[in-house]
Formats: sequence, C-alpha cells, structure tokens
Amino acid sequence: MAFLIPSREARPGDDPIFALNAEARARAQGGEHVINATVGSLLDDDGKLATLDSVVQAVREVPAEIAAGYAPIAGSAEFVRGVVRDLLGDRPEAKLTAAVATPGGTGALRHAIANFLEPGQGLLTSSFYWGPYKTLADENDRELATFKMFGEDGMLNTAAFRGSLEKQLKGQGRSLVFLNSPCHNPTGYSFTGDEWRKVREIVEELSPIGPITLCLDVAYVRFGAQSLDVMLDELLQLPPRALLTFAWSASKSFLQYGLRVGALVAVQPDDDDRRRIQSSLTYSCRGVWSNVNAGGMAAIARVLTDSDRRASVDRERKEHVQLLASRVARFNDLASAAGLHYPRYDGGFFTTVFSKDAFGAAEKLKAAGIFVVPQAGPDGALRIALCSVADKDISRLVEGLTKVLQP
Ligand SMILES: Cc1ncc(COP(=O)(O)O)c(C=O)c1O
Repeated sequence: MAFLIPSREARPGDDPIFALNAEARARAQGGEHVINATVGSLLDDDGKLATLDSVVQAVREVPAEIAAGYAPIAGSAEFVRGVVRDLLGDRPEAKLTAAVATPGGTGALRHAIANFLEPGQGLLTSSFYWGPYKTLADENDRELATFKMFGEDGMLNTAAFRGSLEKQLKGQGRSLVFLNSPCHNPTGYSFTGDEWRKVREIVEELSPIGPITLCLDVAYVRFGAQSLDVMLDELLQLPPRALLTFAWSASKSFLQYGLRVGALVAVQPDDDDRRRIQSSLTYSCRGVWSNVNAGGMAAIARVLTDSDRRASVDRERKEHVQLLASRVARFNDLASAAGLHYPRYDGGFFTTVFSKDAFGAAEKLKAAGIFVVPQAGPDGALRIALCSVADKDISRLVEGLTKVLQP
C-alpha cells in the first residue's frame, strides 16, 4: 500500500557525503591509510575533532535547570542579542533587526525559504552550492535555480547573477538569493569588496521589479581571510530596497557542530515590516522545532557576551585558523605547481577541483584510498574538505588528484 505521498516515494535516505564518510571510516578501521576529505569538520593533524576549550567549558557550566528547561520560542534574548552584536557590532543597523534562534545555520536557511518565497517558487544561488540548499528547497516544496558562478577570468560571474536574478524576478515576482561567502562551500572562494559592490548595484538596480531577499550564509565567517566588514560595508546600504538576512551558525565559528545552535537575522528599517518579519519567523520556529537547544544557546550566549570568555575563544580559534591556513597554503603551492584547475582558494574548510568526469574521478581516487565528494553538472568538480586532511597527507592528496585528473 502506498502510504507515502507520491512526492516522497523516491527520496534518497542516504546523504551522499555522510555515506562516503562512512565508507572511508570503514576502510580506515580495516587498517588502510585512507585520506578522508569528505566531511566538513575541522580535524587536527592527528585526525581528532578540533574543539575550543573555552566553549567546551561554557557548555559544561550551563546550569542543569537551564539546559533541561524550555527556551523561549524565538531563542533566549541574551543569545539573540549576542548574535546580532557578533554580526553587526555597534553599527546602527543592529537596532533594526528581527532575529530568531535556529538549530544551526540549516534552520536559518530553512526559515528564509519558507518565509520569503511562495511554495513552488525558486531560490537563486551560485552553480556551485552546498548540496543541502537543494534538500531544504525540496523539503519545503520550493525549487532551486542557479547562476554560473565563475566567469572566464575565474572571478564571480556578476553578469550571470544579474541575468538570472532579472529572469527570476520577472518570472515569479520575487527572489530569495543565497550567497555563501567568505570561504564558500564547496569552492573555498571569498567574494572581494568589488564583487560585493557589484552584487549590491545589481540588487539595487533590479529591486523595483519585486521584493529581493538576500540571505547571506556566513557559516564560515571566522575562517575567512577577510573580515565581515568587507561584505557589510557594501550590503548594509541595501535596506530598505532589499531585505538583508544572515544565516548565522555556531557550528564552525565555535566548533560545535552537534550543539545545533544558529540564528536567522534580518535587517529591516521599517518598524511595521520588521515586526511582521519577527512574528512570522517566531511562528515558523513554533511550527517546525518549537525551540532551540536551551543549554546550547546559554553556552554560546556566554561566550558571545562575556568579554573574557570571548577573548579566550578568539585566542583558541586563532590556532585552528592558522592550522587550516597553513594547509590551504600547502595545497595551493602543490596544486598550482601540478597545474590542477580550481578556483581562487582563499581559506576555509573546502576547495573544489574542476573535473569533467567528477564521478569517474572520485571512484578512481577511492580505489587509491582518497575520498572526495564528486559534484554533478556541466561544472563537474571534486569537493575536497581540507579541514579534515592532515598536513602530512596533502602531498599524497595532490599527487592522487594529479594522476587521476591529468593522466
Ligand atoms: C555552506 C554552509 N551553510 C550552512 C551550514 C550550516 O551548518 P549547521 O546547520 O551545522 O550550522 C553549513 C554546514 O556545513 C554549510 O557548509
């Protein structure tokens, strides 16, 4: 008997990245020295999950009666204030925000899709994108459209962005755009100040056609080579012509993937609009997950708002950022010398090497004990999670890639 509704009949139960990771771990447990460059968690050079001591301590110190209790539906006030401050500091726009706590950045992206697009409409993002964007769109009965991410010059293809945004606005009357920078997943690309300026100009130019919501996925912001100000200085000029939202996550910034703490923050100067957005987002929280992990929010609120804690976390994080930056530098040296074709890699958890036959190449690499994530499409590519590759393995990784991609 068909209990599942037709649209759910053929859902794949396995997340491809988690499935590849499981396979790599099984082979490693069998004694093989595999390079597992599949999963986006930062591992130290001994393969251990990297954490921040001051954050771990803050989690341990949460009083039992707070951790065990229900949190407010929109998130605890201290946490939400801390996130807004983390994003916007003392800028005047910090006072013009609607914001809710969400389970990770994923929850924030979900709320953006459900609140700023009608069912059946499509969100717009770059042709390389984090796979769950599509899952989130599917799950919420929305579509996903892309613009070609890179031009011939290897820079952000703002002309393609403009064309796709205009087409979508004319076709569906509104747009929601997901942009992930710095340290874009999967390519490692960070938009330059000039690229943000062009994005702003395009959104400004097209905004009379219909409402545009920009959702800035800043999950990797603490690992970027540039500060968030590069983006903010341009994009904060947009409201009220466009709605500016941020999908904020503690998963990478505080190395707490399992805590499931994040937030959606919207900047809207109009008081009535802002109040309506706040109500709608809060309603979504109640209707999807009720409230976010109370202990997690309390711990992250503490590290965001207590200046001593915050300073220790920044100090501890710096070591991890440096570890990753030195892997990135090593990869760039070896991969560019080997002639591998990949976008400018400025830092962050991932990079992507172009490959016409990504799935074939990933299979060959797997046979050689190197696990990477193939990406389909005309811009076929292999995503490499350098965050989980030990420094000593980078030369074997690049050799393997070179052999398979440039035999
Ligand atoms: C591009 C991007 N956005 C958002 C997230 C959100 O992660 P989480 O829900 O764990 O905060 C991730 C996690 O891998 C990501 O890679």
